[in-house]
Amino acid sequence: MDWQVAIPFHPEKVCYHGGAFFEAIGATFENLNRRNQIINADVLDAWFPPCSESLKMLHEHLGWIMRTSPPNHAEGLVETLSQARGIRPENILPGGGSSPLIFLALTQWLNPRSKVLILNPMYGEYAHVLEKVVGCRVERFKLYREENYEIDTHRLSEKLSEGFDLFVWVNPNSPTGQHVRREKVEKVLKQCPASTRVWIDETYVEYAGDGQSLESYAAASENVVVVKSMSKVYGLSGLRVGYLCGSAALLNPLRQLTPPWTISLPAQVAAVKALKSPVYYKEKYEQTACLRHTLAEELNALGISEIIPGIGNFILFHLPDTMGDGPTLIKACRDKGLFIRDASEMGAGMGDRAIRIAVKDEFLNRKMINILRIALKECNQREVLSHA
Ligand SMILES: Cc1ncc(COP(=O)(O)O)c(C=O)c1O
Repeated sequence: MDWQVAIPFHPEKVCYHGGAFFEAIGATFENLNRRNQIINADVLDAWFPPCSESLKMLHEHLGWIMRTSPPNHAEGLVETLSQARGIRPENILPGGGSSPLIFLALTQWLNPRSKVLILNPMYGEYAHVLEKVVGCRVERFKLYREENYEIDTHRLSEKLSEGFDLFVWVNPNSPTGQHVRREKVEKVLKQCPASTRVWIDETYVEYAGDGQSLESYAAASENVVVVKSMSKVYGLSGLRVGYLCGSAALLNPLRQLTPPWTISLPAQVAAVKALKSPVYYKEKYEQTACLRHTLAEELNALGISEIIPGIGNFILFHLPDTMGDGPTLIKACRDKGLFIRDASEMGAGMGDRAIRIAVKDEFLNRKMINILRIALKECNQREVLSHA
């Protein structure tokens, strides 16, 4: 057919997020059983399944759910969030994952003259949207490896007093896993100029224990917005659900730009059920802490001693100089079906030996350690040969 011009499809440059494991599985899903041959520890999806109530609803009604238009603006999900979080519905804006909300708000609020402060290192999508999509001026608040990338909140408050249009704070941070406790965050927010909007990304906050979220603080404030993903803490990454919490004045203009049906019906159903199952999830967060602790000990036993003390469902570590570099280890693991993430690209100054690995269940953690042991041995032998 003459309209079929042979032009290869090259998407515009986008932010890299891991997910290379889909190359092994096949992104057209011909054989999804291949998922059992790989370990996708390069992304931070939950190691545990969604709660049984979510699974049961989808199992029982899937055919109907798939062919039925969802509530237009996820009204039931908003109502459930409102009850679960103690926040009024007008202070909640739901979205199909937090990513579309990040793109929506930041592209609406900012322009090339805007001045924005972000952390370094930090989740890479923000730098991408700010610098590549909006094209605004971005300053980086450096976190130091010698300090385990901990945030010095006094230094942060001083920096914020210089005045920014927006400050993006991922708390707990990725890839470091470092978390600043709520009382300290509130202190910084109270000192921050009212003209600075503060965007707090709480994708991993449930892993920090109860009472750490600033959702209700944001709802009552004029310049603070919390963005919450339901991907990593409710086991819903594939379904895509997230939401913003903030003042109605900040959220309403964004609400007007939100089309109907942005959250699929399977996602709305599963999210509502998940929010009503706090006991199940709390148990999973506690188990995650134990699994992370054991995984860190086993990494340490492999000779990896520089492990950042984070609280998420992942671990950031630096390989010692005596071992091969990060990309070599990543390749050796990948050849054995283990996908781990090169964290060095998530912030300047991390060096080329920074690796982030997701916490999995006991069986997969053991498997990951075995693969790492073999891969490290191979890398070390190569290193010795190259110096011979
Ligand atoms: C810190 C942070 N924010 C936001 C997101 C986006 O999550 P989602 O779009 O699945 O809600 C991620 C995903 O990895 C993340 O790590």
